[in-house]
Amino acid sequence: MKALCSCMRFVALVLILNLFFQASYQLTELQVCNLCGGIILNSSAVGQFCFFSAGRIDGRCCLRNDTTNDPEHIIGLDLSNCSLTCVQDLQGASTAFMIDLSFNPIVNISDTAFQGFNKLNYMILPQNIDCPGSNTSWEKVEIKKGNRHCEGQRNMCNETGQLSMNCPENSLCAPFGPGFFECSCAENFRGYKCLREGEFPALQVFGPLAASTVVISVLLWATQRPPQGQRYTGSSRAL
Ligand SMILES: *[C@@H]1O[C@H](CO)[C@@H](O)[C@H](O)[C@H]1NC(C)=O
Ligand SMILES: *[C@@H]1O[C@H](CO)[C@@H](O)[C@H](O)[C@H]1NC(C)=O
Ligand SMILES: *[C@@H]1O[C@H](CO)[C@@H](O)[C@H](O)[C@H]1NC(C)=O
Ligand SMILES: *[C@@H]1O[C@H](CO)[C@@H](O)[C@H](O)[C@H]1NC(C)=O
Ligand SMILES: *[C@@H]1O[C@H](CO)[C@@H](O)[C@H](O)[C@H]1NC(C)=O
Ligand SMILES: *[C@@H]1O[C@H](CO)[C@@H](O)[C@H](O)[C@H]1NC(C)=O
Repeated sequence: MKALCSCMRFVALVLILNLFFQASYQLTELQVCNLCGGIILNSSAVGQFCFFSAGRIDGRCCLRNDTTNDPEHIIGLDLSNCSLTCVQDLQGASTAFMIDLSFNPIVNISDTAFQGFNKLNYMILPQNIDCPGSNTSWEKVEIKKGNRHCEGQRNMCNETGQLSMNCPENSLCAPFGPGFFECSCAENFRGYKCLREGEFPALQVFGPLAASTVVISVLLWATQRPPQGQRYTGSSRAL
């Protein structure tokens, strides 16, 4: 199973891949829900959350569709007591509000494991593991009964959707999971750090410094993404 990884080998790869092909290196919802046996117990934190959210339990997941047209998505994930030693790829659960990873012999959580988990608002971790994005990314961090509880994801942008100090000029900042923010070019701006105004042929204007990175991303955008505004992700710790 991918999430039971040998961390070292994959971390560098994941850091690079996560930035560019978020779509291709992921566990699907189904895989995440069946990462280990058993189903969510009604008495557990995620079980209670699921009950009060009128969700449906499937394996280790609580699923719900918000409107009849929406596909069901994961709102809670309970991977407690799953013998996980390493967590790096739970992207199938990126819509979750609550994730429980308690009672696992976790030694390492990938820095980007929860990138894009915008709704994540409650995490339970083994006591020895820090909250993703560190304490500063959460409203409240508490140790209770030998577990670490991370509550209330902080918005890393000053004001969502506004021009922000965190993002390059001409770009808008949006939350992108605990400790992360995402910058997308404001309307009419494009290119590296959104410095160009209007449409332009991408490859001709990228500076040599950024060329290798940018070429890869352009190729991947061309093959993997619908053509839309260009985006950057950042971590509060990296700045
Ligand atoms: C976790 O993984 C990172 C990156 O590979 C590594 O630097 C760090 O030493 C690891 N920590 C532990 C406790 O294994
Ligand atoms: C689950 O827990 C809720 C609230 O504690 C309770 O009302 C409900 O009957 C329980 N459901 C089952 C199937 O035990
Ligand atoms: C979820 O979607 C199914 C169809 O896929 C629908 O029958 C069901 O009523 C929906 N549930 C909610 C809560 O909207
Ligand atoms: C974890 O699972 C084992 C066996 O499946 C069980 O005996 C143990 O009580 C569980 N521990 C917790 C804290 O739920
Ligand atoms: C985070 O908060 C917890 C609980 O308040 C505290 O025990 C821990 O030392 C803090 N960690 C850091 C890195 O500040
Ligand atoms: C927004 O960011 C600036 C610069 O980092 C800071 O001075 C200001 O206090 C922040 N505003 C809010 C509401 O956090």
